[in-house]
Parts: sequence; C-alpha cells; structure tokens
Amino acid sequence: MSAVPPFEGSRPNVVGHAAGIVGESAPMRDMYRMLERVRTSHATILVTGENGTGKELVARAIHNESPRRTKRFVATNCSAFNDNLLESELFGHKRGAFTGAVSDKPGLFEIADGGTFFMDEVGDMSQALQVKLLRVLQEGTFMSVGASEQKHVDVRIIAATNRDLSAMVREGTFREDLFYRLHVVAIHVPPLRKRLDDIPLLVKHFLGRLEKRDGKKKSLTASVMQHLHDHSWPGNVRELENEIERLWVLSGDDAVIDETHMSDPVRRSMPPPPPAPFENMPSTQRLPEAVEALERHMITESLKRTRGNKTRTALELGISRRNLIRKVQAYNLVPWNAKGDEDP
Ligand SMILES: Nc1ncnc2c1ncn2[C@@H]1O[C@H](COP(=O)(O)OP(=O)(O)OP(=O)(O)O)[C@@H](O)[C@H]1O
Ligand SMILES: [Mg+2]
Repeated sequence: MSAVPPFEGSRPNVVGHAAGIVGESAPMRDMYRMLERVRTSHATILVTGENGTGKELVARAIHNESPRRTKRFVATNCSAFNDNLLESELFGHKRGAFTGAVSDKPGLFEIADGGTFFMDEVGDMSQALQVKLLRVLQEGTFMSVGASEQKHVDVRIIAATNRDLSAMVREGTFREDLFYRLHVVAIHVPPLRKRLDDIPLLVKHFLGRLEKRDGKKKSLTASVMQHLHDHSWPGNVRELENEIERLWVLSGDDAVIDETHMSDPVRRSMPPPPPAPFENMPSTQRLPEAVEALERHMITESLKRTRGNKTRTALELGISRRNLIRKVQAYNLVPWNAKGDEDP
C-alpha cells in the first residue's frame, strides 16, 4: 500500500479516498477527521449507522490505513448464525466437539491474528456470546468449542451496529461492560438523507463503475436527479447503488435515463413535508403522559408517511423495528397494514 500523506485541514478525506469512500458533505468530512485520528491506533472501534450507510467500507478503510494493514481483515455478521454456529465460527472447534465436526477448525479470531476482525451487527449477539467476546477484548484469550485450553490472539476489533447499543444497555439486553469495551472510539456513519449533497457524487461514482464495466455512457435527466434528491433513502447508499444499477439495466441501450425506469418508492418520492405541528399536546404536568402523547403523534405521522411500512417507520424514528411494533401495539395505533405496505 502506498504511503498516505498526513492529515491536513484542507484535505480531510485522505483515508476516505484511499478506501473508495465517496462523499464530501460536512457530516462525511467530520467522519473523515475521526478516521484520521484513529489511523495509527490499535483501539477497538464501534462503527454505528443505519443499514447501508457504508459501515463495512469504513471498517475496511480503518484497517487499510492502520499498522495492521499487511495482515488480514476478517469480517463476520453476528446476526447470520445461531448461537452455536457463531461460537464455532468465531472461536473454532475441536474435532468431535459436535455432530459434523469431523476435523479441527480454526475460528475467525485465530485467522485474524495480527490483523483486524470486523464484527457486523454486534447488537444481535446473545448474552452468552457477549460474555465470551468480553473475555477476548479484556484478555485476548478464547476457547475453541470442545477445547480445554485457552488460545491467545492479537486482534483489533472493529464492531458495527445499526442498533442503539446504549438503549440496549438500559433495557438490559446488551452488557454494559462489553458496551464500554467496544465503545472506546465510536464512529458514526451519517444516513444518506443527512448528506443529500453527496448524491450527485455518489451517482457519478456508481454510474462511472457501470460505464467502465459495460463500455458505454449514459446520463440521467434532471427530473430523475430531482427524484433521487427528494427520496428519503431508508436503505441509504446501498439503496442508491441498487437504484442506479436498476436504471442502468432497465434503460437498455438508451443513452438517456428517464423516470420510466425508476423504482416506485423513488419515483413517488416528494420533498419531505415539514414536521406536522403537534396540536394534541395534553394539558398535563405529568411527563409520562406527555411523552406518550408525543410518541403516539410521531409514530402515527410517520406511519402515514411510509404508508404503514414498519421498517421505514422505525428507521425514520430512529428506533428498532421491534420497539416500534411494541409501541404500536401498546398504543393500539393504525394504520398498520395499510394498502401498499411493502413490508411483511
Ligand atoms: N460513501 C460511499 N461511497 C461509495 N460507496 C459506498 C459508500 N457508502 C456505501 N457504499 C456502498 O454501499 C454498499 C453498502 O455499504 P456497506 O456494506 O459498507 O454498508 P453497511 O452500513 O455495512 O450496511 P449494513 O448495515 O446493511 O451491513 C456497498 O456496496 C458499499 O460499497
Ligand atoms: Mg454491513
């Protein structure tokens, strides 16, 4: 890897550029400044942000610019496995530890030794695995499934989550000690709706990649660009990337891409309405009642906007989908499965 010049105030995006992260908006520049600060450290990092914001890209950037860059970057998704499988995946297993364990298998921690271990969706780990992860973070040791001896590793952990871990700590579903171990440095990747200035750059980037791949050029009409700008992008950069690919494919040999090929949610997008005034504020001095009234109001408004789509509503409100469902049930709110809901 080529040497990267040190951070200068006028060029905050050295790490970002090196990793192919696109975006020059103010929130992204703030994030690049954080990346610059952690580049020479071995500290554990927690990358937070909604789905599709680019958390994994950021984790790779940190690794690629760190002293560990000559060693491996190993990534795993903690929500993709059940408890037993994840334990064996992370820590490895001995032959005969369970049915199907026909030989010893090293875990990802061992494979990442000397390098970086990226743990995505860390908020989805069970309590039992949280304890084991804590031990690795505290002591650098772990035990393979079915083994009787500890193994020692030197691994830098970068964890990522789209959940509010501090709220999970308060709810008792995430260990406080693990939270503080992971939260040594937190880097937040802003949602795309908070950095609309980046959309033209991202569109150019994704179109450019397709142009290179397919050896032809295409442009977007102003109206398509307007829709891209007005959409709220609950799926963030990944959703934008998919939309551009869709436009590219469906426009076939046309050199100009117009609205006809846009996906429905993006084409239907309108500029977000100003927040509706909160008129039903109860005349109460009691905080719980006032909070409930505000929650009812905001959830109902958001459900209307997303036409009952739970995932988008939860994203818009910055709470988990499960939490949203609990509140909707508790407050007996409609509309629920309104027509047009694309969310099962
Ligand atoms: N700033 C960016 N510049 C260029 N590409 C980006 C950017 N952010 C995200 N992407 C692209 O968007 C897609 C999603 O990014 P990534 O997988 O890093 O997101 P994530 O936050 O880890 O998503 P999830 O929460 O769903 O795991 C990838 O294809 C990535 O290359
Ligand atoms: Mg990810």
